[in-house]
Amino acid sequence: MSELRNKKSLVIYFSRADENYAVGYVNKGNTEYIAEYVRDIIGAQIFKVEPLVPYSKEYNKCIEEAKLRVGNAPIKNKIDDISQYEVIYIMTPVYWGSYAPEIETAIKDLDFTRKTIRIVTTHEGSGLANVVDDIRKICKGVVINDFIAIKGSECINAKNTIENWL
Ligand SMILES: Cc1cc2nc3c(=O)[nH]c(=O)nc-3n(C[C@H](O)[C@H](O)[C@H](O)COP(=O)(O)O)c2cc1C
Repeated sequence: MSELRNKKSLVIYFSRADENYAVGYVNKGNTEYIAEYVRDIIGAQIFKVEPLVPYSKEYNKCIEEAKLRVGNAPIKNKIDDISQYEVIYIMTPVYWGSYAPEIETAIKDLDFTRKTIRIVTTHEGSGLANVVDDIRKICKGVVINDFIAIKGSECINAKNTIENWL
């Protein structure tokens, strides 16, 4: 068991329900399962990043909208203060080879000094894609401890995988 499990932890995640690749119409997004597993296993706080304007329910429309939001993705709710947490989990679906654009909005002004950062991507083939590198670019000085990529359609059954990774 990793010693990180016992530290005060926050999960910052993005996840979208409705129609998606490989899973059809769902009530809960793939990444949300992973966020909730981490909450349930180690007692982490979870924070869901939500777009100010929801994405379309249809997958084909959503992928076009996501392209247009790169670098300009307003969110409903901001996290201002992460000072009480030692470990920050950043969880995102891979969108066009990187994080969901709203993740950038949520994390770019946070102070990650002395934090342990663990990254989770969910995807349908791209793995981590550029997510880790892109987070390093936008969060100056961030030190990323480790990362894991989980196939989107397997998230619902990934509790053991997460248990072992944690
Ligand atoms: C806008 C959009 C872009 C996507 N781009 C990629 C991609 O570049 N590579 C990939 O493997 N999967 C891609 N996917 C699939 C998602 O990464 C995958 O379904 C993920 O698990 C969705 O997480 P969520 O259900 O928590 O939102 C994309 C999905 C969407 C909606």
